[in-house]
Amino acid sequence: MSRRDAVRVRVPASTANLGPGFDTLGMALDLYAWIEMRAADTTTFHLYGDELKDVAADKKNLVYKVAQMVFDEAGVSVPELEISMYSDIPFTRGLGSSASAIIGGLYAANALIGSPLTKERMFDMATSLEGHPDNVGASLFGGIITATWDGIHADYVRIEPPQQLEVLVVIPDFQLPTSKARDVLPQHISLQDAIFNISRSSLLVAALLSGRLDLIASAMRDRLHQPYRASLIPGMEQILEEATEFGALGIALSGAGPTMLALVDRDESLKGQLERHLLNTMKQKGVPAKSLWLNPSSEGVVVLSDSESCSFVEMIKGEVNA
Ligand code: HSE
Repeated sequence: MSRRDAVRVRVPASTANLGPGFDTLGMALDLYAWIEMRAADTTTFHLYGDELKDVAADKKNLVYKVAQMVFDEAGVSVPELEISMYSDIPFTRGLGSSASAIIGGLYAANALIGSPLTKERMFDMATSLEGHPDNVGASLFGGIITATWDGIHADYVRIEPPQQLEVLVVIPDFQLPTSKARDVLPQHISLQDAIFNISRSSLLVAALLSGRLDLIASAMRDRLHQPYRASLIPGMEQILEEATEFGALGIALSGAGPTMLALVDRDESLKGQLERHLLNTMKQKGVPAKSLWLNPSSEGVVVLSDSESCSFVEMIKGEVNA
């Protein structure tokens, strides 16, 4: 493929772990970020939307940095870039905002120089940067990803999400950096807890592959990270205990949190009650939160065609309202 003057990509948000699949399972969600990248004489940034207000607008910018890694890897030089970004993905809330920046930056930069790197190579680079494959894998490949990481290479299988699955996220009004949520985890776990998680993670993958949604409630339980992170997220323990009584198929902390994520049958009659219960539980603990109904995104990151026919801002308006 040939080089391009400019590239626009759309990259989905993601949830990680899905309960027991700590650092292993991820799912793409239909909430997106958009990036435009073009070679320039001087590096400039155009960052739009509330979710990007804390994002660096200089060469420390994550998208700029990962783009330079792609150029180094491909042996080409594109030192100055004009980067435009807009994101609907809540920043540092457990919905894969940093993974979306890494994947969006890698994919846009690779497309700009004629796509010399394979998706598999970009997956390894992204996992090395993020430290675990679950969010970046989902944003790259879409659907549900189960992946391993040996420090150099990620192996994965992509699973098509069951059609009946809808996703409710309750997003608390505070940020929780992943580093802080990982600091509270123990370095060692018991054999019983390892068995608890391996068995549920395996069951969850099999249940998702075979459409056995009835197994999700017990398969989504976790002993590796959620119990330790509960102190950081007021209301989480109660929500984990009660959500299935209000119609959730299963419930988990989304990634490192603080967002809570319920998997729901889209024909479930208790959807409104479930949403109110989760929001009220957070509120009673003094945490304002907002909720969103989402769908799994079958598609991962994509290059959008026709990048010159309208401005970036016009394109975003069209995409967000679509
Ligand atoms: N698997 C990661 C964690 C996701 O739970 O820490 C957050 O980036």
